[in-house]
Amino acid sequence: MTTVNGYEQSDNEQRLAILNLPSLEAKAKAIIPTGGFGYIVGGAEDDWTLRQNTKAFTHAQIVPKALSDIEAPSTATTVFGLDLKTPIMMAPVAAQGLAHAKGETDTAKGVAAVGALMSQSTYSSTSIADTAAAGAGAPQFFQLYMSKDWAFNYSLLDEAKKAGVKAILLTVDATVDGYREQDIINDFQFPIPMANLQKFSEGDGAGKGIGEIYAAAAQKIGPDDVRRIAEYTDLPVIVKGIQSPEDAMRAIGAGAAGLYVSNHGGRQLNGGPASFDVLPAIAKAVNHRVPIIFDSGIRRGSHVFKALASGADLVAIGRPVLYGLALGGAEGVQSVFEALNHELEITMQLAGTKTIEDVKHAPLTHFQYAD
Ligand code: FNR
Ligand code: LAC
Repeated sequence: MTTVNGYEQSDNEQRLAILNLPSLEAKAKAIIPTGGFGYIVGGAEDDWTLRQNTKAFTHAQIVPKALSDIEAPSTATTVFGLDLKTPIMMAPVAAQGLAHAKGETDTAKGVAAVGALMSQSTYSSTSIADTAAAGAGAPQFFQLYMSKDWAFNYSLLDEAKKAGVKAILLTVDATVDGYREQDIINDFQFPIPMANLQKFSEGDGAGKGIGEIYAAAAQKIGPDDVRRIAEYTDLPVIVKGIQSPEDAMRAIGAGAAGLYVSNHGGRQLNGGPASFDVLPAIAKAVNHRVPIIFDSGIRRGSHVFKALASGADLVAIGRPVLYGLALGGAEGVQSVFEALNHELEITMQLAGTKTIEDVKHAPLTHFQYAD
């Protein structure tokens, strides 16, 4: 264990024998300090939307296919011009030093080891350059929390571009923090600095709660900002936090090169629908104009399959990776991706889908079940 400002960080570096992703939460709770775990696991208010996110995958079912004459399905895919070994990617998650002393640098290593796409947050514990270097050339996206101070935005974007990121994720669903009751109960303030904020006049985030950090960020984010970031960086801008066809079309109209359908893992507007339930209507409206990333509540290979079959091109995971990071560092992260991808391979074989393209065209049923 490493202690920083009285906060104990895991130093574990080991492969994990994972039964399933949901089982990781209790194991991680045993080693992540209460305040940090509460910040990670928590949603907003009573966590109702958080709970619906995973439950919603029962609203669609995968039809098994007999006599499909396939074997050894491949999870390889190409999206945004990037050749990936899996459609499963890392969601941008802040402050990963709460889970492990190496933070995002170990996450980047583990994600690179499985040939997946990494995202790094503005509010990372490790710097843009260090996180990129740890990925050793594997593709990464940089997620921007726009500041009110455009000089700060430009300096972050310059660093991200210099580090070789392939796209900017502009998060638009967190212009104020959701009502995070776990953090209130724990009186949680970040014990560990956020590397990218050290330049920021408001300090580096240590000793602050997420509400204060968000307050210093921009509340007013509009279509012109998408255009401004795309023009400044000459990189694809993917708008994260889309939950309606109207928002999707507004983002595309503003020049978004991709959409990220997400409700922030239920951490923002509680009482909103499960992210999976809004995906089909968004995908129908977008009609393949731009690629779609999906997240919130993904815990099973069959969830990944259903999201792909409902219009997503990539599927991101957040919390389970943090649990794997705490339990095993880079190798723990790698173990999480391998476990989920293995479940996806089994699902693909039994559904008679040889490739991810086949999955995207697979039929789903929508029978109603009591449980
Ligand atoms: C997040 N998320 C997030 N999103 C973002 O755009 N920037 C960020 O810095 C963070 N930080 C963050 C921290 C923690 C602890 C969590 C759990 C989540 C949201 C994240 O990108 C993603 O949308 C959700 O985590 C997906 O839901 P699951 O897989 O965690 O259920
Ligand atoms: C959160 C922010 C950092 O969900 O995205 O805590």
